[in-house]
Amino acid sequence: MVTYLQPFVALVLGVTLARGQVAPAPTTQSTGWNSSFELSPEQVKLGNLTSDLATVINTITNFDRSQLANGGAHEDGFYNVQSLPKGQWPTEPGKTIKLQKFTDPSPFSIPAKTAMSRIVYSTTNANGTLIPASAYILWPYQAKILGGRSTNHTAGSSAPVVLWTHGTSGFYANGAPSTHRGLFYADLVPFALAEAGYAVVAPDYAGLGVDTSWDGSHIPHQYFVREAGAHDALNALRAAQESFPKHLTNDYVVMGHSQGGAVAWGLTEILGRNESTFGDVMKGYRGAVIVAPPTDAFAVSSGGFLAWIAKNLDQIYPSFNLSDWFTPLGVDKIKLLNQVEGSQMVTFAMFGPEAPTVQPDWNETWYAKSFEQLANPGNRPFAGPVLVVQGTADPTVAYNTTKNTVEKTCRRYPGDMELLAVPKGSHFAAINAAKQSWLQWIENRFEYLPVAKRGCVQSQLDSFLPVDHYQKLPNSFPLWAGKSQWSYELPTAL
Ligand SMILES: *[C@@H]1O[C@H](CO)[C@@H](O)[C@H](O)[C@H]1NC(C)=O
Ligand SMILES: *[C@@H]1O[C@H](CO)[C@@H](O)[C@H](O)[C@H]1NC(C)=O
Ligand SMILES: *[C@@H]1O[C@H](CO)[C@@H](O)[C@H](O)[C@H]1NC(C)=O
Ligand SMILES: *[C@@H]1O[C@H](CO)[C@@H](O)[C@H](O)[C@H]1NC(C)=O
Ligand SMILES: *[C@@H]1O[C@H](CO)[C@@H](O)[C@H](O)[C@H]1NC(C)=O
Ligand SMILES: *[C@@H]1O[C@H](CO)[C@@H](O)[C@H](O)[C@H]1NC(C)=O
Ligand SMILES: *[C@@H]1O[C@H](CO)[C@@H](O)[C@H](O)[C@H]1NC(C)=O
Ligand SMILES: *[C@@H]1O[C@H](CO)[C@@H](O)[C@H](O)[C@H]1NC(C)=O
Repeated sequence: MVTYLQPFVALVLGVTLARGQVAPAPTTQSTGWNSSFELSPEQVKLGNLTSDLATVINTITNFDRSQLANGGAHEDGFYNVQSLPKGQWPTEPGKTIKLQKFTDPSPFSIPAKTAMSRIVYSTTNANGTLIPASAYILWPYQAKILGGRSTNHTAGSSAPVVLWTHGTSGFYANGAPSTHRGLFYADLVPFALAEAGYAVVAPDYAGLGVDTSWDGSHIPHQYFVREAGAHDALNALRAAQESFPKHLTNDYVVMGHSQGGAVAWGLTEILGRNESTFGDVMKGYRGAVIVAPPTDAFAVSSGGFLAWIAKNLDQIYPSFNLSDWFTPLGVDKIKLLNQVEGSQMVTFAMFGPEAPTVQPDWNETWYAKSFEQLANPGNRPFAGPVLVVQGTADPTVAYNTTKNTVEKTCRRYPGDMELLAVPKGSHFAAINAAKQSWLQWIENRFEYLPVAKRGCVQSQLDSFLPVDHYQKLPNSFPLWAGKSQWSYELPTAL
């Protein structure tokens, strides 16, 4: 053993030995430690995969599965509602069906001194069918203390609520952030909010988490259908407030990114319609932070992206057939993706450029035009105020597209909408860059301060140091190391 390590090891082992336990020897950790997934030969053939690609998909899948707390949504009984007696099936959206008041945080990599709850609640899909969905609540240690005029908030007794609508995290049950050790967005958003004193109410979106209804029917994730996601969010808020009336404020700010940016924008449009069905949640609405929202969904038209939308599109358009958009090879790859319930990174590996998977005229179909109406937010009345944050170097959501949609929307419809540009900001890194701005904006809404400038505003967030000296993209993530043989990786866990 290297001598300089000895005092440290003695300290760590000393703590363990003092409890009368034998400390396991430190072992090497792998990122795929909790899974031994391997594609079968039939699956390799179905996807027309080379053996190199099959190995890549095995590696990614074992990583993905090792990121799941309690073995993920299929193994964690929390996500199973099929034993719910018929007499207890909900009859309206926004009702808690299952309440896990205190989630065991040990299999999660949430920050020390944050706590978690999870709920399964009723919501509606794009066609109005009542279905279950899951959500987590991430709790602060110390609730943010607000002064000002904030209603129903005596210092620290309840935590101000941010309703967080996440971006693309998956397409199947295990894509649910509430089953991901780091809640998928980790310190980018939920940890940052909780550590700033907010309670983060975070819908998984239907089909992610709970994928089978109380009646045994399958629940697909209606990817990119913005109002389906918005209903999931508003119903999660209702259910959470009903289950934790003392701990959550009625007031809330919505924040969303990417797929969830479109969801958050769609939510402002639902509230902007003043429908009586959402009158209850309109009262506490204080505004929305929308980061990198896709407002032109089919600007991306890779086979993988279209597969996520198409794989369950017949639930919305019963006459839709995968062969309307995909070649036979593409259809087979979707079958394989469904079999392995592949993640985003698995999809990218599976839908390579080797052979065409998409029909050349997919975008001329009626389904494509109709789906754009379900996907793209903007150019409609909305409930403000809204802060849109957009990186100018975002490869996924073009800055110009967001700028055009914002300009069209707020010139045509009255309301406060600010576009904050992050120079050279990328799809996720814009969130890091603008953290102080959006945290301050959220705080100001809870303090009932007027927005700095009314109406259609554009601003730019310049960096403090020359922009090229900053880390451009992240190159690390919170790796769960909760077994004692890995305690040497956690010198800050004493
Ligand atoms: C399978 O992939 C190979 C390249 O690895 C390609 O040449 C072939 O055309 C593909 N087969 C089909 C049915 O598309
Ligand atoms: C590892 O996976 C198994 C089986 O999927 C699961 O039961 C277990 O909870 C997981 N371990 C941890 C520490 O999450
Ligand atoms: C404050 O709380 C009470 C009781 O919980 C509720 O009836 C009232 O509507 C709330 N007021 C506001 C402005 O949210
Ligand atoms: C919704 O209601 C508010 C308050 O009653 C009103 O100011 C606003 O103009 C209404 N919006 C629409 C689109 O009807
Ligand atoms: C769902 O709603 C869409 C759009 O309103 C409609 O075209 C479709 O027929 C409905 N699908 C089912 C299965 O009811
Ligand atoms: C979908 O299209 C394929 C290929 O054209 C066809 O074989 C299949 O029967 C169609 N499925 C349905 C449900 O119409
Ligand atoms: C469909 O895509 C093709 C090729 O990218 C393009 O030339 C065509 O204009 C598109 N059609 C529509 C209706 O967008
Ligand atoms: C964005 O729009 C500006 C001004 O309209 C134009 O100069 C620029 O070339 C556009 N950039 C891209 C990437 O389309």
